[in-house]
Amino acid sequence: MGWRQNTERRTDMSTSTLGIIGTGSVGAGVARRAVDAGLHVVVSNSRGPETLTELVASLGTNARAATPSEVARTTDVILAAVPFAAHEQLSRADLAGKIVIDPMNYVVTDEWRRPELDRDELTSSELVQRHLADSKVVKAFHSIGSPQTNQLFRDRGAADRTALPLHGDHPEANKEVAALLDALGFDAVDLGPLAGSWRTEPGTPLYASAYVGEPPTALTPAEWVAFVQAAPGVPLSAARLEELAAATERGPAGFRW
Ligand SMILES: NC(=O)c1ccc[n+]([C@@H]2O[C@H](COP(=O)([O-])OP(=O)(O)OC[C@H]3O[C@@H](n4cnc5c(N)ncnc54)[C@H](OP(=O)(O)O)[C@@H]3O)[C@@H](O)[C@H]2O)c1
Repeated sequence: MGWRQNTERRTDMSTSTLGIIGTGSVGAGVARRAVDAGLHVVVSNSRGPETLTELVASLGTNARAATPSEVARTTDVILAAVPFAAHEQLSRADLAGKIVIDPMNYVVTDEWRRPELDRDELTSSELVQRHLADSKVVKAFHSIGSPQTNQLFRDRGAADRTALPLHGDHPEANKEVAALLDALGFDAVDLGPLAGSWRTEPGTPLYASAYVGEPPTALTPAEWVAFVQAAPGVPLSAARLEELAAATERGPAGFRW
């Protein structure tokens, strides 16, 4: 499969359409980057396509709205940009046989937590893969904010092209997502199976701050999020990404509010 860009207004959409479930900051941000890169997107949320009119209008003619089921039925690669706590609401049957890109991060709150993640027995994406047992889950887009996704893209070969990590248990699916990242303007670094995705999760050097520079010290979690959302993107090379991933030590899982 190849990610063909839509410069000629192609109608053969099967290999150039990204499905998106969840249209918050990440889903809408990746949709923006994808249409700007010449791909098609089909977007969906929890409330129905009729609530996405404004987003689709802002994305232009390469975008349309659908239900999550229709997204799963009509596209082969689907970004599931929903809160991690909602991952079990993703339909295993609808998504069977598909590549599901998982940008979800474990957000630990007093009301909701997962003991197997707190004990570092599993990664959040291993749980997603267990739930979506008939899909090929690839973790990507979890470590960068949408503002930086829409600033740091570059043509292939540019000296300051940014690299993004990906993890997955199905090498051919990893390759497919790497090709998508390339079409969106990023190098991809395949860091292997989902079991190792703690290397790029919240709390590690590769999570968010690698793409915005060091935040001021002593920020509250809300202030940290605001800083990341507002900070200009800082390019990260593939070599530096690999160096940081190799040096990372496993700490407590999740982003703590
Ligand atoms: N925000 C960031 O900077 C960032 C960066 C990297 C990774 N992430 C991770 O990426 C994921 C998305 O983050 P976000 O900030 O974009 O979230 P968000 O702004 O809260 O948006 C979540 C989206 O998911 C949709 N949704 C929730 N449950 C659903 C369901 N059962 N079926 C279909 N759609 C559903 C919501 O639909 P409605 O619009 O209808 O409510 C909404 O569009 C999270 O897991 C987060 O940890 C976030």
